[in-house]
Amino acid sequence: MKKVLMPLVMVALLALVPYLGVAFGKLDYLFGVVIPYAAVAILLLGILFRMVDWLRRPVPFRIPTTCGQEKSLDWVRQDKLESPSTPWQAALRVLSEVLLFRSLFRNTKAELHGGPKLAYGSDKWLWLGGLAFHWSLLVVVLRHSRFFFEEPPMPLQVLENMDRFLDVTVPALYLSGLVALAAATFLVLRRFRDEKVRIISLPADFFPLFLIIGIVIAGISMRYFDKVNVMPVKALTLGLAGFSLDAPSPIGSLFYVHLFLVCVLFVYFPFSKLMHMGGIFLSPTRNLPNNSREKRHVNPWNPDIKFRTYAEYEDEFREKMKKAGLPVEKQ
Ligand code: HEM
Repeated sequence: MKKVLMPLVMVALLALVPYLGVAFGKLDYLFGVVIPYAAVAILLLGILFRMVDWLRRPVPFRIPTTCGQEKSLDWVRQDKLESPSTPWQAALRVLSEVLLFRSLFRNTKAELHGGPKLAYGSDKWLWLGGLAFHWSLLVVVLRHSRFFFEEPPMPLQVLENMDRFLDVTVPALYLSGLVALAAATFLVLRRFRDEKVRIISLPADFFPLFLIIGIVIAGISMRYFDKVNVMPVKALTLGLAGFSLDAPSPIGSLFYVHLFLVCVLFVYFPFSKLMHMGGIFLSPTRNLPNNSREKRHVNPWNPDIKFRTYAEYEDEFREKMKKAGLPVEKQ
């Protein structure tokens, strides 16, 4: 229970800091300008540092996975996506992973039934929940571009219109916000439901989920309930995008809760498991073509060993070998 409560309390306390700071301490400048700039700088430098660190790790050999037929003889049909043999095919495998979570689709569950009998079965819920969570968050974040552009680019406007097609509230309901909240809640509950998942779950698994739920709840409250005036928000965000240091006009404290939790997420991101967002592109089992039969991969940092062939050996010891009655290849 501690590993759930601790991150939950942490997120609640983190939400309280800007709320009190702005409502009672008049710290708008700190929470509206200083902290956002610092958080974005830490996010960008942190991601750069982690990615460069990973990129420098040597990957001398291919790591074929056994899900599909490797390129072989002409009459054996190759599975180009599961076992790619060219960089383009490998890029498609990475993309299918990033966009569709392909390997998660193969997720299985193991259950003990009366007997006792161990039964394995397919489990698509995590795939579906994960997909809904990531895609809806992406849509929410892309939609937020309207705060950072005077006029968002055309594709983003189309996306926004599609997201609000269910025009049932004032202001119009964005489906992606609701889906993000539902999917994040599902991902939390999934960690409680199955005791095996419960045991391996850590505070670091709950914290980012609670943080994102906190951000989404603050956002939804701001839009539909405690309605925030978006004009000063837009003035602030346009200023931030243009590296301005001007103080923000008064905006409700709830906005600063939303923004501060986003800043916490940015600072936390590079040092946490959330870096899987960048790591997936560097995953050797996904991004390396399986061409080990076609091409010999030699470890580039092998020591330069001087090999001695059998012929050279025999040349040196031929006479001694003959004397000892050992067979030789060359007389
Ligand atoms: C990880 C980043 C973020 C997430 C996940 C997020 C999420 C959300 C969600 C779910 C909503 C509810 C309405 C909707 O669905 O659009 C919302 C509203 C809002 N967010 Fe964010 N947000 C993020 C970053 C930001 C940032 C950086 C700002 C500004 C600096 C911001 C400002 C606002 C404002 C002003 C609203 C109210 C919008 C309205 O009244 O139409 N958000 N946010």
